[in-house]
Amino acid sequence: MIYSRIIGTGRYLPENIVTNADLEKLVDTSDEWIRSRTGIERRHIALEGQGTTDLCEHAARNALEAAGVGPEEIDLIVVGTTTPDQVFPNVGVLLQSRLGMHGCPAFSVEAACTGFLYALSVADKFIQSGSARTALVVGGETISRITDWTDRTTAVLFGDGAGAVVLRADSAPGLVSTHLHADGQYKDLLYFPTGVSLGMQPVGGANSIQMKGNEVFKVAVNTLGRIVDETLLANGLQKKDIDWLIPHQANIRIIQATAKKLELPMERVILTVQDHGNTSAASVPMALDVAVRDGRIKSGDLLLLEAFGGGFTWGSALVRW
Ligand code: UT7
Repeated sequence: MIYSRIIGTGRYLPENIVTNADLEKLVDTSDEWIRSRTGIERRHIALEGQGTTDLCEHAARNALEAAGVGPEEIDLIVVGTTTPDQVFPNVGVLLQSRLGMHGCPAFSVEAACTGFLYALSVADKFIQSGSARTALVVGGETISRITDWTDRTTAVLFGDGAGAVVLRADSAPGLVSTHLHADGQYKDLLYFPTGVSLGMQPVGGANSIQMKGNEVFKVAVNTLGRIVDETLLANGLQKKDIDWLIPHQANIRIIQATAKKLELPMERVILTVQDHGNTSAASVPMALDVAVRDGRIKSGDLLLLEAFGGGFTWGSALVRW
């Protein structure tokens, strides 16, 4: 049996920081409201001309360096993103070219905030089937580009960033299991209204991220609770077996609810939402990288990664470190 194992992680946040105090000058909001409702303190916004591929390239190079793997060893690239630089080539191909690579399959998957877990799961299947041996998996977003900065209900929530992992075939897990879901009946609760086939329009006003925050919140809490149960059940595990929760970083209150469901103290939860807000597909790999690099995650630990986003899409991955 072939499994995949994460052998290196990386992340990148653009240098430009926008604090809650900065946003108080733009829209009718307050640092107190943003912190208490979301846990967010600041977000990083890509500079003009800085695209999703730029962020992904930084994160990918960090992950390759951590893994001690050269680009020539990568035989698959999968990127989770909903904010690609161009319609095509896809971000995976653009990233491949930046890294000086040629020939291996490279593509992106679009699943909003669950994009990285979709990408990870796809790459895992390639490795399990023997179609790839060493894969680069990235979640990267420039969500700021589809946000209306005059709308206080969304402007305070989102930020840009990228996270990456290198996966390698191994005789033992590694990735123990992945679980993916989607349900389009919720398509009107969180969406960006226009696109290519129905006509592209400038971003702003009604043509920006639209979210019924309160309704999304309730479904997110319930759905993430269910996927925790599903992941444990599929592997015959108990809540107490999980060492670390590495959640999608959208709102500290949603994260706290999932931790409570798992009966995990918050000390066992990797929390980064305060530093960058909701970075969509980038948030799970960035949180993983933070905890790997600061030494909290140790060899043999069992990690539960989860995410929930527009669609709705949601997913989890159980990882033995
Ligand atoms: O990553 C994909 C999944 N996305 C999520 O998981 C996001 C899920 N939703 C949420 O995180 C929360 O629903 C929000 C943070 C978006 C909103 O928090 P909430 O506690 O659900 O607040 P609310 O939408 O019920 O709004 C409460 C009040 C409203 O005022 P009234 O009607 O009570 O007078 C809003 O107009 O807060 C007001 N409000 C704000 N006030 C100050 C909304 N945005 C702001 C703001 N600053 N930025």
